[in-house]
Amino acid sequence: MASKKVWADTPLQLIDTTTFSRDNSHAAYYVATQMALAHSGILRGLNSIYLQAPNIPLADTKAVQDFLTYIQCWSESMHHHHDCEETIFFPDIEQITGVKGLMEQNVEQHRAFTPGFDAFQEYARACKPREFDGQKVKSLIDAFAKPLSQHLHDEIDTLRALDKYDSAKVKGAYKKLEKALMATDNYRIAPLVFGTADRGAEALPEAAATVEL
Ligand SMILES: [Fe+2]
Ligand SMILES: [Fe+2]
Repeated sequence: MASKKVWADTPLQLIDTTTFSRDNSHAAYYVATQMALAHSGILRGLNSIYLQAPNIPLADTKAVQDFLTYIQCWSESMHHHHDCEETIFFPDIEQITGVKGLMEQNVEQHRAFTPGFDAFQEYARACKPREFDGQKVKSLIDAFAKPLSQHLHDEIDTLRALDKYDSAKVKGAYKKLEKALMATDNYRIAPLVFGTADRGAEALPEAAATVEL
């Protein structure tokens, strides 16, 4: 009997962009779509770790070390994403909108998953291949998956709601964030980003002009 294929689209739910990704009347929808695709990549990566953790052959220490390195790369990518948002993107958005604290809820949500995420990243850094425990990896993910997933979904709504502000400036802020996100360790993070991207996703229309910030 053929076994059912399991994809990395569970257990954490990916973000559906179909209701707004075709709307190019304001850059907020373009930015929300790009962010949703990035967040779905983060979720896919974490799903792949969760699903594969109990199946890594423990006797093969090279395979275990490779898997630990994969977790480290995912964690570095996650940290970089949220760090760039807090230091570059969110302040720019608050400046454009003139609403201080507009992104505060997102920063609070970052704080909500940070302790569990830090413990997970530390495990991947410190674990000796011989001591690897797939169930432990799953339980570490269980400790922060809910607030992380909640945040990755909620941030998209915040971005879509920027449609009442200057479209070109909103897009300019995102382009600046994009540049910062790409200025990273591309030997560790880029393969993961490409590997977890949805290559079947629709080609997206770019909205409006961009103002450089
Ligand atoms: Fe984000
Ligand atoms: Fe975020």
